[in-house]
Amino acid sequence: MLWGGRFESGPDAAIAAFTNSLPFDQRMAVQDVRGSIAHARMLGHQGIISGDEAAQIEAGLRAILHSLTEGEYSRQRLTGAEDIHSWVEARLRENLGPVAGKLHTARSRNDQVATDTRLYLRETGDGFDAQLREMQQALVDHAGEHLETILPGTTHMQHAQPVVLAHHLLAYFWMIQRDRERLQDWRKRVNILPLGAGALAGSPYPVNRAFVANELGFDGVGENSLDNVSDRDFVIELAAVLAVVAVHLSRLAEEICLWNTREFGFIELDDSVATGSSIMPQKKNPDVAELVRGKTGRVFGHLQSVLVTMKGLPLAFNSDMQEDKEAIFDSLDTVSGCVGAMTLMLRKCRFRPDRMLRATEGDFSTATDIADFLAIRGIPFRDAHEVVGHIVKTCEEQGRTLESLSAADLKAFHPEFEHAPADITSVAASVRARKSPGGTAPDEVRRQLTRAEEILQAES
Ligand code: ARG
Repeated sequence: MLWGGRFESGPDAAIAAFTNSLPFDQRMAVQDVRGSIAHARMLGHQGIISGDEAAQIEAGLRAILHSLTEGEYSRQRLTGAEDIHSWVEARLRENLGPVAGKLHTARSRNDQVATDTRLYLRETGDGFDAQLREMQQALVDHAGEHLETILPGTTHMQHAQPVVLAHHLLAYFWMIQRDRERLQDWRKRVNILPLGAGALAGSPYPVNRAFVANELGFDGVGENSLDNVSDRDFVIELAAVLAVVAVHLSRLAEEICLWNTREFGFIELDDSVATGSSIMPQKKNPDVAELVRGKTGRVFGHLQSVLVTMKGLPLAFNSDMQEDKEAIFDSLDTVSGCVGAMTLMLRKCRFRPDRMLRATEGDFSTATDIADFLAIRGIPFRDAHEVVGHIVKTCEEQGRTLESLSAADLKAFHPEFEHAPADITSVAASVRARKSPGGTAPDEVRRQLTRAEEILQAES
């Protein structure tokens, strides 16, 4: 217990259990110890405690760090303290005796927990970014194989215009790229040191916050002690970034579910990333994709939860803020698990170009191309649209497809069709024509793919 002096009794057991955060904040144990090492060194460096005391404390903390990473506590759930800060201090006192009590000079748990959380999220965020990169790589690898694979592009879930599969997959590459940019931008703000703010008002000791920031790899020192102990924007912001990642994953997951149906048959999942049914022997289900889609609910929920937790809090620290951790930790665990599973599923799925192409047959998806042909020859696009609408209607009435129309058939609808190329109704010609920047022409998608590969390479 770190605060017994003014109390006649300890807390009721039920209250101690209710206020305890050790079950979840112990995942910041390593960060807590590293933060304390930096703080102890600073205290020694500034002469706030003696050099010898600082060295003893640092050695004691290093022993705890070792016990957490490789030793007796490395595989153990920590218990017996009200939070991770108290737990570490208790271990230090066991090892060092009274000198351990000097560590908490010029520090409060309020600036300490803010520091631990920032360190933990910064480091976990970096690992998460690497995971996103892996997923991008899987998308890029598939895209390289499918620059010429044509499938129906849809709007309103209706066949609209043909696109190439690489184009479709790279759309997700860019979504994830923006997620990563958001993460990098967030990193600038999370990487500011709160320690030295004290409980709320700053410290009367000659602390050296820049020294601590430098030790812990922070880019700077918080400007306002009240803000430093009570700001959780960095939690909210990360929860929001993760929610957007979850949206992107969920959309891809939905497409995988759809494409994996008998009706579509656009993909085939390897047995290693699919699951069966306990009753229907024939089933092979895309559970992984369904779970990725389903888990978005709790990720959105955590964003809402941290927003609401913070909205009514007066400055500075309030214990409500202890509620931020389970939310953001679960968001991280969940979205990280989703990215890992999704990457594996992408690696273990096979696309079916034959099925995709067959889906474009007779789907009228080159109608725009036929109208564009007339428009390029000077016919106002509105009139061309009307002519082709008429062609489609006639085909539907006669149970025919656009592809089945001969040059003579077309000419009956408009004399300009005399000059129409033979492949005017082909999906291959349609995609080839869409050379505008960002368009689906294989050459243009190849350029896009090169750009994506450059981005991935620049970071490695
Ligand atoms: N367990 C707290 C948290 O998670 C840290 C201690 C905060 N300080 C306090 N006076 N209760 O935020």
